[in-house]
Amino acid sequence: MSSDNKVESKIKKDPISKRAAFILDEGVVHEYLTEHFSRFGEPYHKTERPNGYIPFCVAENKQIFDLVEPKLSQRPGMNITHLGYNDFRGTAEFREALAAFLKDYVFKRAVEPSKLGIANGAGPLVEMLFWALCDENDGVIVPAPYYSGFDMDLTARAKCKILPANMNAEDDFAFDVSACQKAVEEGRKQGIEAKALLLTSPNNPLGRSYTRDELQSLIDWAKNNKIAVVVDEVYALSLTQPSEKPFVSICELMTPDEMREANVHVLYSFSKDFGMSGFRVGLIYSETQRVLDWASNMGFFYGVSTDTQFVLTSMLKDRDFLERYVTTMQQRLADSYQTILKHLGGKESRIVSESKTASDDTATANKKVTIRVLPADAGIFVFIDCRAFLPLDVEPSLGENRLWRHVLETQNLNLSTGHSCHCETPGFMRLCYAMESEVLQEALRRLTVAFSNLPWPCAADAGVIDN
Ligand SMILES: Cc1ncc(COP(=O)(O)O)c(C=O)c1O
Repeated sequence: MSSDNKVESKIKKDPISKRAAFILDEGVVHEYLTEHFSRFGEPYHKTERPNGYIPFCVAENKQIFDLVEPKLSQRPGMNITHLGYNDFRGTAEFREALAAFLKDYVFKRAVEPSKLGIANGAGPLVEMLFWALCDENDGVIVPAPYYSGFDMDLTARAKCKILPANMNAEDDFAFDVSACQKAVEEGRKQGIEAKALLLTSPNNPLGRSYTRDELQSLIDWAKNNKIAVVVDEVYALSLTQPSEKPFVSICELMTPDEMREANVHVLYSFSKDFGMSGFRVGLIYSETQRVLDWASNMGFFYGVSTDTQFVLTSMLKDRDFLERYVTTMQQRLADSYQTILKHLGGKESRIVSESKTASDDTATANKKVTIRVLPADAGIFVFIDCRAFLPLDVEPSLGENRLWRHVLETQNLNLSTGHSCHCETPGFMRLCYAMESEVLQEALRRLTVAFSNLPWPCAADAGVIDN
């Protein structure tokens, strides 16, 4: 059979459509996620599974269950209206509670409940929204490194083309609006016209808030270039230094009229700040009626159960709870961030492996390892610079993958590679640290052991670390 016939026959036998097969077979699958899903059923437990899996790669806050659990188990006032179809933009009561919460905690200015629409997560909202803002093959600029999930959200069904605006590694990936212009020009060379920009603020994977000036430079540039802007603010409250490095919402810089004129939209979610990724609740705030109508129309496919909305409404209405929750959640994040700095060292401190398991190589486990943590103040992760630990005998991009696999296979510890975050410079990894402190200590111990026992020569051996 000729190879064309083989393909044809494979297509005929496939019980799913060509378009679905295309997404399944050709879609972006990040290796670290495949590994995650094959391992997460056997998690680490201090006594029951001491060598169990630890995901340093999933952006979930696992430090807050005791805080939210009492709110989630109470359901007084549940009634028959919760059983029936409701407004797919969200129940009136939920949108009112959301508007009040967003005003005080996230946007820092008033927002009309009628300008909000809810859906089953920020990820689905990205997909739904870009389907509406762009046509097939339109370009979306995404400042890079960026959250790996956007690959799927923007390309699988919305069929946008991502144009990464690469920030400079030598400048710790500081935001530079000229990278957005370069991305537009790069797109044009490939016949792709940029229609929109997607910014995650605070940034994932860098764990960093944007300053007012940075945001303003972006707004001005996008307006001048007639580029629609979507700002994903899902980490707005996940701050480690809220007083010194406060979060600035795009809404603080733009009036509702300015947002409408400039085609700017904002997303938020309960997955990150409230550690409720399983609840599947996100929201869009837009001043553009056509976009709101679209979200409302799609609500049937992307809806949130009224039961879940009811539980969250009562949680948001309890201001004492919210105040306590946000303060404690931020304090715990700050503590974990300090633990990371203390162990990974940055410029001053160094990891010294203290507790060892029987399987550790005693000779090397005590070796001192310093891994530079890029400055961070938000999110639930840090970006670490592992360039000095890459094998010297292969290309850095292959070396990054080899290092990631070494940590995974020797320590059952999964990091996200810089490659999966579209980091242009190889050798960086994202490390999600919002875990219970005992698990975090164990994860850091394993990381130390892995980096102290590299089976290849690297720059760190020769002390050539310029981190
Ligand atoms: C920047 C960003 N946006 C969206 C999402 C997805 O959020 P949700 O669970 O609300 O779909 C994530 C998850 O990691 C994220 O980091």
